[in-house]
Amino acid sequence: MTAVFDPWSAEFVARPYPAYARLREESPVLWFEPSRQYLISRHEDVNALLRDRRLGRSYLHVATHEEMGRTAPPDYQEPFWTLNNNGMLDREPPDHTRLRRLVSQAFTPRRVEALRPYVQRLADELVDAFVAQGGGDLIAQVAEPLPVTVIAELLGVPEADRHLLRPWSAAICGMYELNPARETAEAAVRASEEFTEYLRALARRRKEDPRDDLVSALAAVEGLSEDELIGTCVLLLNAGHEATVNVTGNGWRALLQHPEQLAKIRANPDLLGPAIEELMRFDTPLQMFERWVFEDIEVHGVTIPRGSEVALLFGSANHDPAAFAEPEALDVTRRDNPHISFGAGIHYCLGAPLARIELTASFGALLAKAPGLRLVQDPLYKPGYVIRGLQSLEVSA
Ligand code: HEM
Repeated sequence: MTAVFDPWSAEFVARPYPAYARLREESPVLWFEPSRQYLISRHEDVNALLRDRRLGRSYLHVATHEEMGRTAPPDYQEPFWTLNNNGMLDREPPDHTRLRRLVSQAFTPRRVEALRPYVQRLADELVDAFVAQGGGDLIAQVAEPLPVTVIAELLGVPEADRHLLRPWSAAICGMYELNPARETAEAAVRASEEFTEYLRALARRRKEDPRDDLVSALAAVEGLSEDELIGTCVLLLNAGHEATVNVTGNGWRALLQHPEQLAKIRANPDLLGPAIEELMRFDTPLQMFERWVFEDIEVHGVTIPRGSEVALLFGSANHDPAAFAEPEALDVTRRDNPHISFGAGIHYCLGAPLARIELTASFGALLAKAPGLRLVQDPLYKPGYVIRGLQSLEVSA
């Protein structure tokens, strides 16, 4: 069975869903030796384990690497791990609770909602320019610039520096793939050093001379160390665009390949909201999240011992017939849609409301302004499996 799961092959990354169906049916808990993880493929199990406090994204609050039977990462990777471990995503309670509460004080629903007209204006401008030139690469010209600009604007990263964010983020995200190569880790370490230095300087400037932005708001929050502030900003900047880019690309590819579904949204704009949820389910942008096991657990009769790592297959959970009627069909009218693309439990995506505002703005603008959108060539997926998206999406408009 392990042979059906091959996250390093381009064919699997392009079409992981048939393999998931076999995993769910035949081996819902499968030891996968190449990454030394248990693969969990059913919706019910992924959902339950995300909420189970016997598992977590980090174990360092309860045990050392040695006590968990693991080896510490090599010294040269220290800048990456320091940055990573200072964001809330890789912390567990009580630190996670404290960080999430502090960040929520600055990243308020009001601040996010207030961005809606700005996001819509930006989406309209990007789409107008795209249509005026007859189309092109939808990823480079619409999908990427929208969330990158929005999150940079929200945090207060000056316009002149924004070109730095994508390359730093891409290099850091290489570490979230399975078994990253030495060069990938080295690139992530370099990017972590540069990104940390950049944000340290920006945060210090904002502390002295605050503006109306999130870095200034976070710098003013009591109880957040400077390293935690930096870790939080990097997390927001990276998480704040990577998946949104891929939902836009994967989503438009799916719509253009299912013209009857696209026609339904064009005929009834009220379907835009449910359609975006369906696109996030149908071609899941983040295919897998991992958890460490703090004490022995049992899933379908398999004992998963303390110190193990489980790989929760979100893409598979989102295609489980036990949770979705006709899961392999794209159905923009789907109402009962408990997709798991924003996660569940204490790490549930903090940026989900902002992501929905951005996706509504960009899909809405393209629907309204590009009625003749067509695929020019069948797009290819990037090599990454965990953060799964298209290299480019060439369309005519
Ligand atoms: C469609 C776009 C997005 C998707 C699919 C997505 C998905 C996710 C998922 C699955 C998690 C939980 C990971 C886990 O449990 O291991 C998560 C966490 C997080 N996301 Fe998002 N995200 C998106 C957009 C955003 C945006 C726009 C922001 C910020 C502005 C953001 C910020 C965060 C943060 C800060 C966390 C950590 C929450 C915590 O640990 O408590 N995300 N996201």
